[in-house]
Amino acid sequence: MPLTHTKELFAKALKGKYALGAFNVNNMELLQAIVEACEEEKAPVMLQISKGARQYASAVYLKKLIEAAISTSNIPIAVHLDHGDSFDLCKECIDEGFTSVMIDGSHEPFDKNVEVCKRVVDYAHKHNCVVEGELGMLVGAQHDDGEEGGGYSKGGVYTHPEEAVAFVRQTGVDSLAVAIGNSHGAYKFKGEQRLDLDRLRAIKKALMEAGLGDYPLVLHGASSVPKDLVQVINKYGGKLGDDAAGVPEADIEIARRIGCTKVNIDTDLRLAMTAAIRQSLAENPKEFDPRKYLGAARARVKELVRHKVHDVLCCAGHAFD
Ligand code: G3H
Ligand code: 13P
Ligand code: ZN
Repeated sequence: MPLTHTKELFAKALKGKYALGAFNVNNMELLQAIVEACEEEKAPVMLQISKGARQYASAVYLKKLIEAAISTSNIPIAVHLDHGDSFDLCKECIDEGFTSVMIDGSHEPFDKNVEVCKRVVDYAHKHNCVVEGELGMLVGAQHDDGEEGGGYSKGGVYTHPEEAVAFVRQTGVDSLAVAIGNSHGAYKFKGEQRLDLDRLRAIKKALMEAGLGDYPLVLHGASSVPKDLVQVINKYGGKLGDDAAGVPEADIEIARRIGCTKVNIDTDLRLAMTAAIRQSLAENPKEFDPRKYLGAARARVKELVRHKVHDVLCCAGHAFD
């Protein structure tokens, strides 16, 4: 099946009230695991590429690998730039045929964020590409400690519903990544684990009431950091801290029902891959064929992705809607 446009995947996901998994791709094994899992689950999928992935694997290799995945599978696949940090990088990806790009100006003041986002939107829309912007700032565990955590502080780093409306209107951006207590990596929460789901509801409602319809929201930092994977990693020589913690999958399910149409997962793939490689090498000390431990890694990632799309995101079975 040829590349499917992000626009089409979003429209169907909004209609079907499921979330799209946006999984980060850095090498062949990850890509095969994601695509095979989604194929078996009949799930549409977004493959996302970060700047770091392009530096690690090279843009050309990733493009060719994804072309191979697209030509050998029959599920809808869209290709997205994750955390584009400049107009130039976004333009490069748009010119390469990505179906969507993220411009992450979230660290900038509101006006600057609008400016760079609008510039990307103007270019993208002329070239059949859609854009994800971000408003609010994702930070780590310290986020909930300060006075900016929780509440509706305008100056805070959580996304403010009215600012979200203004941002979408002023930029014309097609989807919006929100900051509601989410963060990247394997150490997301100190103490009680929580996303501010009321804030997510308020953002969705404000966009709806502003006439922007069932506007697609994006949840970054959606890995759940499964305890069993952390245990395997540590059992076989890893040193992840006791405070490794992710977003409970039950919260992701609620976020999906409130209206997070795209859910970004990278850390869990890294954990699955690392756990399998560590276990495989430890249990087979005489083995030195990379296909053995990378094969085990691919199988573990595939199992994880099948679980996510089937049990958490509920996009399984929707590939041919
Ligand atoms: O949110 C960031 C993604 O996990 C990508 O990470 O920049 O290390 O490739 P990366
Ligand atoms: P995690 O670190 O929680 O997997 O988040 C990934 C992400 O947001 C990619 O943009
Ligand atoms: Zn992210």
